[in-house]
Amino acid sequence: MIPDIHRVSPLIDRERIEARIRELGEQISQDFAGRDLTLVGILKGSVPFLSDLMRRVTVPVQIDFLEVSSYDGTMHSSGVVRLVKDLSHPIQGKNVLIVEDIVDTGLTLRYLLDALQTRMPASLAIATLLDKPEGREPGIELQPDYIGFTIPNRFVVGYGLDLGGYFRNIPYVGVYHPPEEDE
Ligand code: IMP
Ligand code: MG
Repeated sequence: MIPDIHRVSPLIDRERIEARIRELGEQISQDFAGRDLTLVGILKGSVPFLSDLMRRVTVPVQIDFLEVSSYDGTMHSSGVVRLVKDLSHPIQGKNVLIVEDIVDTGLTLRYLLDALQTRMPASLAIATLLDKPEGREPGIELQPDYIGFTIPNRFVVGYGLDLGGYFRNIPYVGVYHPPEEDE
């Protein structure tokens, strides 16, 4: 796969992302006022979002990371979720906020919610930069608690989101147009 930036058309620019994360940070800080919070970033796509969001949260914060894989480097979900790297610390009794880049089929988050719930956190919520509700697998009822932007059912890259490991460093979110779309 050759990462060709000319195949990416901007969808959400960096100023909008920054403004929205500021709002989410304020909301989360209000909702968790008087409590402390563990942000669990899902590697690797959540890295830019987590990094910007944590600096907008004013309650005491700890961070930890999990890595799962459900995509095999292509534009389609394999449907099988695999835990690649576990948390470094226990979350029992903690207020946990899962930080994701995007919710598409919902299979990754369904798996993570079930896995983390068994560890008995005090609370468990989801923040996602992007939500693609049209991509939801039938039967998966999943409503993220904090959503940056709801987007159409297109494959997007940038600001953490990748295709074959590339494009995560683009500072905005854009739609990837595969060669198959060319006339
Ligand atoms: P889900 O399990 O189908 O909800 O997908 C969750 C994961 O799939 C995300 O964490 C992303 O890594 C990946 N993903 C889903 N849609 C996209 C997309 O449009 N671009 C890049 N990655 C995506
Ligand atoms: Mg991912």
